[in-house]
Amino acid sequence: MTVERFYITTPIYYVNARPHLGHAHTTILADAMARFNRLMGREVHFLTGTDEHGDKIVKAAQAAGKSPQEYCDEISGIFKTLWPELDISNNQFIRTTDPEHKRLVQKALQQVYDSGDIYFGEYGGHYCFGCERFYTEKELVDGLCPDHKTKPEYIAEKNYFFRMKKYQAWLLEHIKANPEFIRPEQYRAEVVALLESGELEDLCISRPKSRLDWGVELPFDTDYVAYVWFDALLNYLTALGWPDGQKMRDFWPGANHLIAKDILKPHAVFWPTMLKAMGLEPFQHLNVHGYWLVKDTKMSKSLGNVVEPLSLKDKYGLSGFRYFLLREVTFGYDSSFSEESFCGRFNSDLANDLGNLFSRSLAMTHKYFGGSIPQAGLGGPDEEELQLMAREACLNYQRLFGRFQTAKALDALWELVRGLNKYIDTQAPWSLHKEN
Ligand code: MSP
Repeated sequence: MTVERFYITTPIYYVNARPHLGHAHTTILADAMARFNRLMGREVHFLTGTDEHGDKIVKAAQAAGKSPQEYCDEISGIFKTLWPELDISNNQFIRTTDPEHKRLVQKALQQVYDSGDIYFGEYGGHYCFGCERFYTEKELVDGLCPDHKTKPEYIAEKNYFFRMKKYQAWLLEHIKANPEFIRPEQYRAEVVALLESGELEDLCISRPKSRLDWGVELPFDTDYVAYVWFDALLNYLTALGWPDGQKMRDFWPGANHLIAKDILKPHAVFWPTMLKAMGLEPFQHLNVHGYWLVKDTKMSKSLGNVVEPLSLKDKYGLSGFRYFLLREVTFGYDSSFSEESFCGRFNSDLANDLGNLFSRSLAMTHKYFGGSIPQAGLGGPDEEELQLMAREACLNYQRLFGRFQTAKALDALWELVRGLNKYIDTQAPWSLHKEN
């Protein structure tokens, strides 16, 4: 019998900020997927880690009065120690400053360079330091970066470019032939629209050391380091021991990336074209979720409105916290965070529905049966209906959860919880007991 395998990744998080609820959400969702797939009998590899090169890390280190390496060690360590506290069951934690990762990034660069898909040229563009990328005129909103709402700097310099344009037609075709390659649908449609709206530009994949030297040196030109995204995306492969590690053979065919919509373009456009240029099959699914908002604005360190995951966990307990994140977010859509909505969910679903079901069942087992579970009685139509409901809840739960629709999956399960409460209300065991 062949074992099915599932490879789940989170984005590797930048170390310029401490983890907040947004990072915790993605990682808890990935963890839930890893656990679900293990329960379904699949062999799972679950990867997370930190993205440590580039301008903004250097700037953050300077602001903290530390060397980049010292600074990265510190913040990466905070991420690494947070995850066990949130019960994250990752198999691996990768850092882009790991020597093995850097060696394999150089190997990949050399391979793509040798195949002719990297060339030297000159480019001028609007550079956002927050995103660490060039924007075209068309992509800016009122002249500002759409994400950071800051004015990008115009930079012109000689650099290396990846022939991304060459793979545009292939990518479009692949997305059209595989409707769930990018899911849910609205993000697939967004990427299709982008690819159909005009020619892609080739991707600038280097930074001159004169401007930035905190990165992976290009193996074919020591005056340059790799663009942070080219280095970072490769983590999904270097972690598996690309090109010929056993894990690569086992897990790459079942690769599922999980991200939020902020990094859709690098994952949906840069990454598959890079893989194609390297002669590899694309990942299986790119799974995209929305943002956590606070008063209609994205939660982010630069906007200063972050919620600390640990304080919520400490106040409400880990299971309740994890439940909230999986239940409150409709996959692909934004959600607004407020402590009131958290409490509301906690009280209605966990305390009332589930808690009530448990405490009544246990209390009655004690009161009427001396604490041991009685033999099941002969079932009538009510019990048959309940069994049917249980079977359906289970099937729906499995179908939806496996496709990242955790809110709908939990809702399907709660139909059963509510159905059981209703069954107790209508059967009224307390009167049955009185009547013997
Ligand atoms: N380093 C890159 C990713 C490279 S992956 C090859 C990066 N890092 S990040 O630290 O900015 O993390 C972005 C990710 O964090 C999002 O895609 C999402 O998973 C999570 N989130 C950060 N803020 C979030 C919200 N406000 N809401 C939901 N998720 C959030 O981008």
